[in-house]
Amino acid sequence: MNNNINSSSSLDEGKLSYEWASARMIALERSISKLESEQPLQNLTIGVCLHITKETSVLVRGLQRLGASVSLCASNPLSTQDEIVSYLSSVGVDVHAKRGQTDDEYFESLRKVLDSKPDIILDDGADAHVMVHTENKYSSNLIGGTEETTTGIVRLRALEQEGNMKYPIIACNDAYSKFLFDNRYGTGQSSLDGVLRATGLLIAGKRLVVCGYGWVGKGVAKRAKGFDAHVIVTEVDPFKALEAHLDGYEVMPIDKAASIGDIFITATGMTSIIRGEHISSMNDGSILANVGHFDKEIDVKFLENNSKDKSKVRPHVDRYLLNNDKNVFLIAEGRIANLIAAEGHPPEVMMMSFSDQLLSAVYLAKNSKSLERKLIRVPEDIDREVAFNALYASGISIDTLTGEQLKYQNSWKL
Ligand code: NAI
Repeated sequence: MNNNINSSSSLDEGKLSYEWASARMIALERSISKLESEQPLQNLTIGVCLHITKETSVLVRGLQRLGASVSLCASNPLSTQDEIVSYLSSVGVDVHAKRGQTDDEYFESLRKVLDSKPDIILDDGADAHVMVHTENKYSSNLIGGTEETTTGIVRLRALEQEGNMKYPIIACNDAYSKFLFDNRYGTGQSSLDGVLRATGLLIAGKRLVVCGYGWVGKGVAKRAKGFDAHVIVTEVDPFKALEAHLDGYEVMPIDKAASIGDIFITATGMTSIIRGEHISSMNDGSILANVGHFDKEIDVKFLENNSKDKSKVRPHVDRYLLNNDKNVFLIAEGRIANLIAAEGHPPEVMMMSFSDQLLSAVYLAKNSKSLERKLIRVPEDIDREVAFNALYASGISIDTLTGEQLKYQNSWKL
């Protein structure tokens, strides 16, 4: 236990939050209880680098119930929920995290998790995997890993192309049961939640610019539309841009959107999306938030270097008085706003993503010797099991193909 926040009230709050989420993560509970008697993770240490939220506590307890020891750190310096740290520390998890870490503390915590000599790493954003691949001493025990988010997959694909991947990594983000739901509905809702909790302002009638119309951007745009914002989308991919247009949004380059929007939400996973020249042309009072994984999408340095004054006007909002006398408000320092200004994704969404993580860890425990040292897909039967469990959780059953339909599907003669 490497923190000093284990007061009983924080611990009680953490336990209540765990119970609140756990009761709603029915699909995950279903997978855990099915495997519990088998103890498939016995004698394994799992290094977990994820946002430390109430939903993560349910995954971590699940890994313990399957026999694993868990060493945990955060995947972002600002997203940790301290009461969850208190609770998990009290139930035997080796936790290295606290809210508001400096970058140095954040990487030190990662090192402590890797010092626990994990057999498997569950990562979000690939910082842990990258550290294993850049600092040689950490790879000895590793039989495999998983990756939770799009940006992590992009980094790992580049690593894989160099041909030096040290262990197989399952691309949890790319499971249908993950990105179609977590990235779209989870981030869609929690991003708007972040903007609302941070600002308390009315969304209806605002011109809300969404940068990036991938899975996250689609979710953000849809929820913003639901709040009656005038949604503008910026893109670089012609198919996504066309899709946004046919979904009813205005599509234009960021150069133009910058001087039109009231609220900007970046969701690209790319770097340098909202740059100095865009910030300079914004309207007085513009609000900026990023929900992509890294804090590289909004040029915060420009704000720091080109403002007469900076002040914190609400817990997660900094006001910059620019040299051109206009105010720009930045949410959560340009970092992942839905996890810092709000609580991240709801448990009903995370039960799917974390089922993929848990079942992938079990798959690695059973099959790692036969897997290539590559980025690999979540096995189809796991992906489908997660979707069926999520349907079960909502009390929904569906049809199955009849014998006649199966025959028709597999025949080329009508
Ligand atoms: P995606 O690959 O589906 O979408 C990204 C989109 O951004 C693509 O359509 C791409 O064409 C577009 N894009 C790239 N450069 C651009 C530019 N210069 N201007 C405008 N658009 C540009 O990725 P996905 O799944 O939507 O994820 C986006 C980011 O959100 C990633 O960093 C991912 O890791 C992160 N993420 C964050 C979550 C959260 O809780 N905040 C949850 C899930 C993902």
